[in-house]
Amino acid sequence: MKVSPSVISCKLEFLRDQIEMSVNSGADQFHLDIMDGHFVPNLTMGGDLISAIRRCTDLPLEAHMMVTNPDKYWKVFSDAGADILMFHYESPVNLKKCFRDIKEEGKRYGIVINPDTPFSAVKDLVDDAEILLIMSVYPGFSGQSFIDGITQKISEAREYIDQYSLETQIEIDGGINNRTGQIAVDSGADILVSASYIYGGDIGKNISYLKNLVRTK
Ligand code: DX5
Ligand code: ZN
Repeated sequence: MKVSPSVISCKLEFLRDQIEMSVNSGADQFHLDIMDGHFVPNLTMGGDLISAIRRCTDLPLEAHMMVTNPDKYWKVFSDAGADILMFHYESPVNLKKCFRDIKEEGKRYGIVINPDTPFSAVKDLVDDAEILLIMSVYPGFSGQSFIDGITQKISEAREYIDQYSLETQIEIDGGINNRTGQIAVDSGADILVSASYIYGGDIGKNISYLKNLVRTK
């Protein structure tokens, strides 16, 4: 299983140490939760922090843009060092245009859907996306509980992606821990995001636990 630790739950005074510890424990990439206080009721990072994280690791950085104008800001995050730009389907922008521009820039993109958005809404957008990120909590805060009802959507996306032999990876974000990780994997996840579970305890042990999960159903 691929694991994408979300640095939102790192202790900022130990950011480099915790990133290095995550890399040494098998992290595959890092998840950057960017919140603008408008699209979601919380504020987190911008370009400067992303540049600092870029200087701490060579692993891919995915920018989960919980902002109202990702069309205006993705270039800032890309220039700061983000490799994969993740757009919410619910953001009021011309997604197809953004995706074309990002490809021209030589970067990759992903699509994110909120718990209330059905998979069918993004069917015609996923084929060219690097990642389909399915939210298993309402975006805005780490430390929330996994919404169990989301598993059906994950299975539906898995079935569609397999049926058309797409390379799009399914990533699950929100409430992933040593109970819900298995549920997400069994439903068809390729990548697990985790913030509070990984950084709220033994970083090495928690990343290894998620990495070693295999599909049992
Ligand atoms: C929620 C963010 C998630 C969150 C995950 O808005 O998109 O990435 O930080 O945090 P945990 O793993 O604690 O649910
Ligand atoms: Zn996220």
